[in-house]
Amino acid sequence: MIDLNAAGAGHSGYDLLAAQLQALLAGERDFIANAAQFCAFLYSQVDDLNWAGFYLNRNEELVLGPFQGQVACVRIAFGRGVCGAAAATRQTQRVEDVHAFPGHIACDSASNSELVVPLVKDGVLIGVLDLDSPKLARFGEHDQVGLERLAQIFLASTDC
Ligand code: SME
Repeated sequence: MIDLNAAGAGHSGYDLLAAQLQALLAGERDFIANAAQFCAFLYSQVDDLNWAGFYLNRNEELVLGPFQGQVACVRIAFGRGVCGAAAATRQTQRVEDVHAFPGHIACDSASNSELVVPLVKDGVLIGVLDLDSPKLARFGEHDQVGLERLAQIFLASTDC
């Protein structure tokens, strides 16, 4: 596991993850292959996750994509739950306590906090990247910035 707060020689944990992700996705542009690699990479390298994966925009409805973790709900309407809010607003949703989030969809009862990053390429909403943690308030502003950066690397490396 990488200590995401480690700061040595100007490299934070997310600097290292960004370099590793660039290398991992280099030379391949297939969406499913890169999405599967990306969520497996996050799930193995980011501490305290119990779910990491994609919901994809299918005619203004989110449909489950590649993921790591427990089986999950398949379809989520825009505006519903944390993922639906990220899709509807195109704003990252960083939720310290999912039980306090109106309409939160509990796929895994172990989840206590969540970060959902909308994936927008050339003005088109491709879907969302969803990370769940059993720890309350697992994701800080530092994580939001870092994971938004990783999402941009994924989008730039992948044909959507
Ligand atoms: N909790 C999410 C649903 C997806 S699962 O966490 C994998 C939500 O409220 O949108």
